[in-house]
Amino acid sequence: MDNKLYVTYNDIHKAVKKLAEKINASDFDPDVIVAIGSGGFIPARILKTFINRPIFAVGISYYGIDNKPNGVPQKIQWIDEVEKKLFGKKVLLIDEVDDTRATLSYCVKELLNHSPKEIAVLVIHNKIKKKDGEFPPEIKRYYPAVEIDDRWIKYPWDAEDIDDHDIRNKANSF
Ligand code: G4P
Ligand code: MG
Repeated sequence: MDNKLYVTYNDIHKAVKKLAEKINASDFDPDVIVAIGSGGFIPARILKTFINRPIFAVGISYYGIDNKPNGVPQKIQWIDEVEKKLFGKKVLLIDEVDDTRATLSYCVKELLNHSPKEIAVLVIHNKIKKKDGEFPPEIKRYYPAVEIDDRWIKYPWDAEDIDDHDIRNKANSF
């Protein structure tokens, strides 16, 4: 049996909308969106539909440029301009998945070096598991749209055959 969780673009869109509604209902009024690439890129663009703020992108990968695990997250792309723009700002940071939290917590710590006013962290999926990384105490707002057990998620942007992906999603849902 295929124990992977197939998630559709539609699922992602609805999950992001749910997150945006939570933010809009809170007293947090973000100035900017920061997307952690590559998984956070498409969620960030959807988020902009509901919370219309400029998007900055940072690229961090656990697997490195050559796609080999390095054991530590690496900056693939880190724009100086982003850092300057974060000073005193309220940041909505978005990524697709909180798995071991290694990449996410590294990214949060790096961004905090640039003195934003606050960072709220949004993820589509949080895997309920023991985490390798921890958020620093500055992170007071953490919003996962969906909490899941520790299984592999198949995101639609990784699908080579999106129709087959959607069929697998439906097969899993019933
Ligand atoms: P975390 O801090 O967000 O928990 O990430 P972690 O370092 O644990 O994860 C390493 C990489 O594995 C990340 O990709 C993350 O997106 C990816 N990953 C973890 N679990 C899943 C999953 O269930 N499905 C898929 N498709 N990916 C998963 P990355 O190296 O940051 O690169 P990118 O894929 O975002 O470009
Ligand atoms: Mg990612």
